[in-house]
Amino acid sequence: MSGNDSNKIFYNTVPLEVFQSLTKQGGFDRYVDLKLIEQHLPTSVSVMEVGAGYGRCIDFLLEKKHEASIIGVEQSPQLCEVLINKYKDNPIVQVLHQDIKSMNYPDQVDVVLWLFSGLLDFAKEEQVIVLKKLRSFLKASGKLFVDIPQLTELTVAKYTGAQDVFMETQYGNITTFLPTETDMANYAHHAGFRKVSVIHYETETEKKRSMYQLDV
Ligand SMILES: C[S@@+](CC[C@H](N)C(=O)[O-])C[C@H]1O[C@@H](n2cnc3c(N)ncnc32)[C@H](O)[C@@H]1O
Repeated sequence: MSGNDSNKIFYNTVPLEVFQSLTKQGGFDRYVDLKLIEQHLPTSVSVMEVGAGYGRCIDFLLEKKHEASIIGVEQSPQLCEVLINKYKDNPIVQVLHQDIKSMNYPDQVDVVLWLFSGLLDFAKEEQVIVLKKLRSFLKASGKLFVDIPQLTELTVAKYTGAQDVFMETQYGNITTFLPTETDMANYAHHAGFRKVSVIHYETETEKKRSMYQLDV
C-alpha cells in the first residue's frame, strides 16, 4: 500500500479528541481558513467538502445559516459515523462515505473545499488525478479551494526530503507530498482549470499557509 491508501490507517484509528487537538494546534479551530474565503461561500451556493473529518467546515457553513446543499465526502468509517450522527436531522447536509479517488458524482456543485492539508495525504501522481476529478464535479462558474502549508511550515511533521513529509504517530504513519506553487499551477493547468490564485496567510498559532483558488 502506498500514497493515500497508506494514510487511511491514521484517520481510521485516531481518536476524535486527538484529531481535534491537531486542528487546534494548526490554528483551524476558529475557522481562519474559511473566514478567508467566506465571500465565496454565500448561503445559496452548493458546497462539496473533500475529507470532511468531524465536520469542522460543515459546522462553519451551518453557523452562517447555509441554505444550499452541503456534501461531505469522507473515507474514514469512524469519522463518517460522527458526521452521520451529527447531521442526521439536517436536510441540507449529505454525508457520502466514499473514497474521493474512486467516487463518481452525478451532479455539479458551485464550490469544492479541500482544506487543512487534505491534498497532502495523496502522492504527487494522485494529486493531479483527484484535482481533475474535482473539476468535473464543478459547475462552469465553479471554484475549488485548496489549503496547504507553505513549504517551510509544518505543524506536527518532519521532512524526509524537500517536499516529502513524514509524520509518525501511535495511530499510524502519514506519508505526504507538499506541492510548491509551481506544482499547483501545473496541476491546475493539467486538470483544466482556467485560473489559479493564491493567498498566503498565517494562523493564530503562527503556521504559514497558502489558500489556492482554482477557477473552472
Ligand atoms: C486533514 S483532515 C481535514 C479535515 C477537514 N477537511 C477539516 O478541514 O477540518 C483530512 C481528511 O480527509 C479524509 N480523507 C483522506 N483521504 C481521503 C479519500 N481518499 N477520500 C475521502 N476522504 C479522505 C481523512 O479521513 C480526513 O478526515
